[in-house]
Amino acid sequence: MEQLKRTTHCGALRKQDVGKTVVLNGWVHRKRDHGGITFINLRDRYGITQVVVGEGSALSALTAELRNEYCIAVEGRVRLRPDGMVNPEMPTGEIEVDADQLLILNRSEVLPFPIDEETGAKEELRLKYRYLDLRSGGMQKRIRLRHEVSFAVRAWMIRQGFYEIETPTFIKSTPEGARDYLVPSRLYPGKFYALPQSPQLYKQILMVAGFDKYFQIARCYRDEDARGDRQPEFTQIDIEMSFVDREDILTMTEGLMGHVFKQCLNQDLPPQFTRLSYETAQEQYGTDKPDLRFGMPLQDFGPYIAAGDFQAFKDALASGEAAKQVAAAKGITQAGGGVKALVVPGKASYSRKQIEELEAQAKIYQAKGLAWMKVTGTQAAPVLEGGVAKFFAAQAKEIVQGLGANPGDLILMVGDARRKIANIALGAVRSKLGRDLGLLDPKRFAFVWILDFPLFTFNEAENHWEAAHHMFSYPQTQYHGSLEQDPGSVKGDLYDLVLNGYELASGSIRIHDPVLQKRIFHILGFDPQEAEQKFGFLTEAFKFGAPPHGGIAPGLDRLVMLMAGETSIKEVIPFPKNSFAESPLDDSPSEVAQKQLDELHLSIVRTQAP
Ligand code: AMO
Repeated sequence: MEQLKRTTHCGALRKQDVGKTVVLNGWVHRKRDHGGITFINLRDRYGITQVVVGEGSALSALTAELRNEYCIAVEGRVRLRPDGMVNPEMPTGEIEVDADQLLILNRSEVLPFPIDEETGAKEELRLKYRYLDLRSGGMQKRIRLRHEVSFAVRAWMIRQGFYEIETPTFIKSTPEGARDYLVPSRLYPGKFYALPQSPQLYKQILMVAGFDKYFQIARCYRDEDARGDRQPEFTQIDIEMSFVDREDILTMTEGLMGHVFKQCLNQDLPPQFTRLSYETAQEQYGTDKPDLRFGMPLQDFGPYIAAGDFQAFKDALASGEAAKQVAAAKGITQAGGGVKALVVPGKASYSRKQIEELEAQAKIYQAKGLAWMKVTGTQAAPVLEGGVAKFFAAQAKEIVQGLGANPGDLILMVGDARRKIANIALGAVRSKLGRDLGLLDPKRFAFVWILDFPLFTFNEAENHWEAAHHMFSYPQTQYHGSLEQDPGSVKGDLYDLVLNGYELASGSIRIHDPVLQKRIFHILGFDPQEAEQKFGFLTEAFKFGAPPHGGIAPGLDRLVMLMAGETSIKEVIPFPKNSFAESPLDDSPSEVAQKQLDELHLSIVRTQAP
């Protein structure tokens, strides 16, 4: 049968094309019959064009056969739509194609779900029939955005003099934070490659190799539980530079983000992003991933406790202080207790039930409760009412003014012997309020740098120090003399870029001095042989004139997700895994033939289900 080869696509035709004969190829998006006239909305990647098969046309029988998602070819003449039929919502809404030839290129079975702007189907079904899900308008737009973001990243990086260099995806298994995915070696029984959790070590080796500005849109693999913003397989915009300090990396990243947002969303970002120290972020927002699209910072309520009568808060501060003294005697710096407050503007009207819902949120984060009081009276003579107000009645004016509250506001408080708990729990309440009060405008982009992270965190369960980021991050110079004495107080040259409450990027200035690196390994509990065996290739490379260097890695999936106003990276990944790390499309992971196992020298030991 004659092939009707397309001459244009379904998003192209306009008024000025009237009179042309065209061939369109695409899918039947919708078909409507109006008294013998059939209207077909024909869809392809570029848009939708209305095709008309007139009453009594020779094509009527074939047209009757058409169902949604049949793949067809149509030849016809472009004509103006009659008055009153123009659709201003559609770019092609002024014209239609009067069909004189039609060819069914392929039929479609009954669809598991309709192809709409967004698919309403359950996730499992969307992932199983991902090729159909990807036909939806929303997915098409998001995959295009992803392409445009990758292109903008490449264009900007290359213009700045970066080389895009690939690094291997079969590497040595090294302890990097998450669990490795392993690939058994056929040639070397009992040996494994690991898939990289990130190109971290290789990009540092590229710096030793003299490629002083490297980037790569790199696939990374981590065997960790999937979440909305996490996949086992994801993509980083991986970057490393030599002869730079922290400022250079921050400025470069701001330039990159500015370019990408301008290019892809026509959004102007501020030339410099807000900066917060890790400690300030914890104190003001109870998290190192604050959403700065709205205010409502946490405030210190500690100064009002002594003069008040609320015993629970007095006890929290007293036992926090006692624990702090005990820790100090062991040489460990601890923050003690804390009482934090959050002023919710205009929400004195909140019901007990609404406050209980907020309390439930605080309790998830180990708060013992959520205290509250309402501000009434006037600005000049404010009054505290309800909840714990009676314990602070005498200080009403001082508290209301000190917290910057107004009549009509609600004040929420969490006190705990561990200041961290008070911060985190009230921070979670703040986040819930942000969602509940509709303060999370997906069209706003609030970037913030989080700086001065602690270099080490103490793993209480396993009783040892761990790297807060990874073990190649540079301790800030002023701590080099006291690393071993007080690891908990050491700040690293580490930085995270946070966007709308998500960690978008993470990076650091690296250690390039083998002696300093060995000291860090030692604090982390790697003995010299173990460190040599696991990372010897990196420390070996550092013996040959390694330059000072640093880098960063924004997550591409998270970046595109936020730009698209989504809350799951699955919406911007063509073929993601489900929440159980499975792919319903190809049914992986799957069992393999015994022959394959034999070749890989593997045998499967099946354990009884617990
Ligand atoms: P980090 O582990 O913080 O740093 O990762 C950097 C960024 O990658 C993204 N990301 C993820 N995205 C989706 N799914 C995941 N499972 C996932 N894990 C991380 C996040 C995160 O901010 N080598 C260092 C970077 C460096 O120091 O240069 C690294 O990988 O957006």
